[in-house]
Amino acid sequence: MPTSTAPGKVYLFGEHAVVYGEPAIPCAVERRATVSVEERADDRVVVEAADLTLDGFTVTFDGSTADADPELDVPTRLVQSATGYVEEAVAQARAAAEAPEAGFELTIESEIPLGAGLGSSAAVAVAAIDAATRALGVTLSREEIAEYAYQTERAVQDGGASRADTFCSAMGGAVRVEGSETQRLDTPPLPFVVGFDGGAGDTGKLVAGVSALQERHGFAADTVQAIGDVVRSGERLLADASPEAEPSPDLLKGLGELMDFDHGLLSALGVSARSLDAMVWAARDAGAHGAKLTGAGGGGCIVALDPTGETARALRYAPDCVDAFRAELATEGVVRT
Ligand code: MEV
Repeated sequence: MPTSTAPGKVYLFGEHAVVYGEPAIPCAVERRATVSVEERADDRVVVEAADLTLDGFTVTFDGSTADADPELDVPTRLVQSATGYVEEAVAQARAAAEAPEAGFELTIESEIPLGAGLGSSAAVAVAAIDAATRALGVTLSREEIAEYAYQTERAVQDGGASRADTFCSAMGGAVRVEGSETQRLDTPPLPFVVGFDGGAGDTGKLVAGVSALQERHGFAADTVQAIGDVVRSGERLLADASPEAEPSPDLLKGLGELMDFDHGLLSALGVSARSLDAMVWAARDAGAHGAKLTGAGGGGCIVALDPTGETARALRYAPDCVDAFRAELATEGVVRT
């Protein structure tokens, strides 16, 4: 049975602004979604989600309606959101393999919390598309998987999606995305620490909120452009650094300052949350070089830069934090097992 895994990600810089054509630098991290797929004799799709770091659930898609297990004890909004991505990933896999009637049994396991800014939906979409197309005898390139996974997010997020999460998950490593231009970056191993508040944000709604804000206020559009400027400054710092060597204190200081700035701009766009701000301050107080929310925001995760153990330790004691861990760069994107 084809099984594929794909990593989650943190944003060094540039979430939200990337939806409007500014550059972004997401980095894949070693927390993975694993999807196994078996073809069915009929055209139904049965999804078993053993662990999406919330309690498991089973859903069956028949046409376009997902019926969730009535015993379900995860928030309905999150399950609907997760199943929306899986359903669309299946549609993309059917299209890629030119098998519109294909039915599947999918088993999903994930170490990435749902909707928390670590790219759970992109990782599930990437792994599901790769495993489902292989179950139909078609092997896609990583670039093709990234494109079909992007189409998945675009459909589910009502057009408000960039290629950043899906390209990063498919390719692995640090990547740069600006509109349809995508490339892998050689960066030194950055000492990411993640803090998780146990919550989640609704990506579609948060993206729509930023869009509405820009329609109401010109300065919100300027804020989005300012995030692009932060990313360009960060790129210059990374371009001067040797990818082989440990990052210098000056590089970490420079990147950290830009992360702090980025968080301020994202807050101005209304996508932070009290718990995210509290974790960002706990990280800074612990001596992190910089800290910001990661992903769509609204709740979920922050990312900080700290080569020492101090930030993770402080976050573990912070009242708003339920989990803190070091996030290693995942140099491999989608992996076939
Ligand atoms: C979500 O992880 C990142 C956003 O920029 C949306 C996207 O790029 O698709 C908020």
